Amino acid sequence: MENLSKKEITDILKDDKQNDWLFSYADKIRKKYVGDEVHLRGLIEFSNICKRTCKYCGLRCENRNLERYRISPDDIVLYAQKAVDMGYKTIVLQSGEDEFYSRDVLCKVIEKIKELDVALTLSIGERSFEDYKAFKQSGADRYLIRIETTDRNLYTKMHPHMDFDNRLKCLKDLKKLGYEVGSGSLIGLPNQTIESIADDILFFKEIEADMIGIGPFIAHPNTPLKNEQNGSFTLALKAMALTRILLKDINIPATTAMETLNPKGRIIALQSGANVVMPNVTTTEYRAKYEIYPGKICINENPSQCRGCIEGKIKSIGRTISTNKGFHNKKI
Ligand code: 5AD
Ligand code: FES
Repeated sequence: MENLSKKEITDILKDDKQNDWLFSYADKIRKKYVGDEVHLRGLIEFSNICKRTCKYCGLRCENRNLERYRISPDDIVLYAQKAVDMGYKTIVLQSGEDEFYSRDVLCKVIEKIKELDVALTLSIGERSFEDYKAFKQSGADRYLIRIETTDRNLYTKMHPHMDFDNRLKCLKDLKKLGYEVGSGSLIGLPNQTIESIADDILFFKEIEADMIGIGPFIAHPNTPLKNEQNGSFTLALKAMALTRILLKDINIPATTAMETLNPKGRIIALQSGANVVMPNVTTTEYRAKYEIYPGKICINENPSQCRGCIEGKIKSIGRTISTNKGFHNKKI
């Protein structure tokens, strides 16, 4: 199965008759290569200010209906400290592309968080090679930057004023600098073909990704895509399961967007190839404002409620919570 061709992947994505088999096979591969441990990553959404205009995203700068916020560098470190106290072994810093957080500001934040003996992941978009290098030298371990779609034409339509080749360059730069690199894609963008989703999965393998996050597109009312159909939960799950089958030992999150479309989305994902969950660790006041898409889960909860909730869910399916940092442990 690891050498599936584009045609074979496309056929599986198009045919829903074998879905149960596909999901349980991905679950088996997950168990064999990464075991029953689920890695929790404490997510800090530290700024919803973004200079970009991605057509699908509620944080796009042209959305004037969103109250914007920035968490101060000191408070970011404080949230990280609280997350570590709760047992998180990885902190993920995510934001819109917000230039307020300069190279130096972020390096200081990274250095302080790394004193807490945790793994640190950045998810802050496209930056220069020099920025990525400085963040790495300050101690950042991982970087998430989804390709979103490998269909160049679709990418260009979805991302005005952005350049597909620069996205590829970012992925290459991060790899060269020694980061664990995470990528991923959106499933169900308007005019996205099944063939291009097969290309996405083959792309993940080609770049030797360490992590892949896949989620359904959810139409946001304050974006140009407001009248488009949501992506399909099942198709996103199938793309995720195939990614597990092809890449085997990588880390794959059960994404929040999946749970937005299906109340059991993350549990189903954890039983179809996923081995990571990224609970929010900021206070309730910011959560609703980080509205990438509508219907985001956990917006009324606080960090300890989310921790308790997700622990219960993970244990209810016979899985355990990892006590290590959860690096990509290469087995193939
Ligand atoms: N629906 C689902 N996911 C979205 N993202 C951005 N906007 C949406 C949306 N409307 C995803 C992108 C991005 C990640 C942080 O959130 O894939 O990389
Ligand atoms: Fe936040 Fe369940 S993880 S409420």
